[in-house]
Amino acid sequence: MDYRNFFNEALDGLKRKNNYRHFIDLGRQTARFPHAMIEDEHGRREVTIWCSNDYLAMGQHPVVIEAMREAAAHDGAGAGGSRNVGGTSQRHAALEQAVADLHGREAGLLFATGYIANETALRLLGDRLPDCIFFSDELNHASLIHGIRTSKAEKQVFKHSDLTDLENQLASVPLERPKIVVFESIYSMDGDIAPVREICELAAKYHALTFLDEVHAVGIYGMTGAGIAERDGVKTRPTIIAGTLGKGYGVAGGYLVGSIEIIDYIRSFGPGFIFTTALPPAVTAGALASVNHLKHSQTERIKLFVLVDKLRRCLQEQGFPLLPTKSHIIPVMVNEAALCRQISQELLAKHNILTPPINFPTVPVGTERLRITLTPRHTEAMIEAFVTALRETWQRQSALSL
Ligand SMILES: Cc1ncc(COP(=O)(O)O)c(C=O)c1O
Repeated sequence: MDYRNFFNEALDGLKRKNNYRHFIDLGRQTARFPHAMIEDEHGRREVTIWCSNDYLAMGQHPVVIEAMREAAAHDGAGAGGSRNVGGTSQRHAALEQAVADLHGREAGLLFATGYIANETALRLLGDRLPDCIFFSDELNHASLIHGIRTSKAEKQVFKHSDLTDLENQLASVPLERPKIVVFESIYSMDGDIAPVREICELAAKYHALTFLDEVHAVGIYGMTGAGIAERDGVKTRPTIIAGTLGKGYGVAGGYLVGSIEIIDYIRSFGPGFIFTTALPPAVTAGALASVNHLKHSQTERIKLFVLVDKLRRCLQEQGFPLLPTKSHIIPVMVNEAALCRQISQELLAKHNILTPPINFPTVPVGTERLRITLTPRHTEAMIEAFVTALRETWQRQSALSL
């Protein structure tokens, strides 16, 4: 077989469809965030980031950075092993306790990433719960889909956040058969928020477990940052909540919280937990500082939402096609892969604005978009300049593509 040819043909296919992804290497500097340096064919210059998942800029917060510095100096760089073989420190235990407390649960469990937390738990539960069947929202994240698929358990996909469809599907399966409803609180590409309370109520009615991914909500929603379930007064209803320490908390790592027995079960049997090196101590220290800070401080959340409201209002006034969603994520719908890429490229080249195109397979073909996110470090002046630049670029590129 001509291996090179095989790989190159696949890559060429992506390029032909405008779906090939180019990295942009950022030179970051805490004091300058959300600005960063880049160097490309247009030279070396400072750009502004409009696509960060460090939604509260906690990755730049002095409390977090200091905690990481102190832990690295004290403990060293790496954990030195898997959790069961020398890799567990008091810092891991403290962070697991902190996330369990945050969500009002008995236990928490850390993973290398949120992706691995989701994949490990769903695969394990689907494999081991006898005759288990999943009910999965049609817009679920790849990590959830992958966990469900690799478990080989039966799966039914329900229409996105559609309670009637979910209920019909749940009702079609015998009450005593083990069931898991898998959904997210905030869908990261559309920015819409699920009816968490209602889904949990339906699941309870049909004796199903619930697995709620709050990855894009933790840190940002609820009085203590526990997410949409907290905001909606149902913090302890989902059976398992999955979170990340890499987005709203600004560091890295994933976690699950739930009852003692379910978390201990995943700890004891989950390959993605057992057979991998534990998170570095400095990462757990930074994440703990971030979780603790956001349990009490409302400053970052308030600032973020003031800016989000302003940006959404400005974009609406200018007639940009937005989805009618209400979270901190603002997708501007371009609906065409090549145009989306061109707008993004011109924004970067001419206006030093970084917002990569969101194309297939992250979103379906025909729904390509710019996914705009803010942080408390953005300013009202930056937002005004951004909207002017987007309008100019959009008009020019749309005219060129006719
Ligand atoms: C809904 C959802 N769940 C899970 C993850 C994975 O989280 P992490 O980035 O910590 O691996 C993501 C990441 O983008 C996500 O969007």
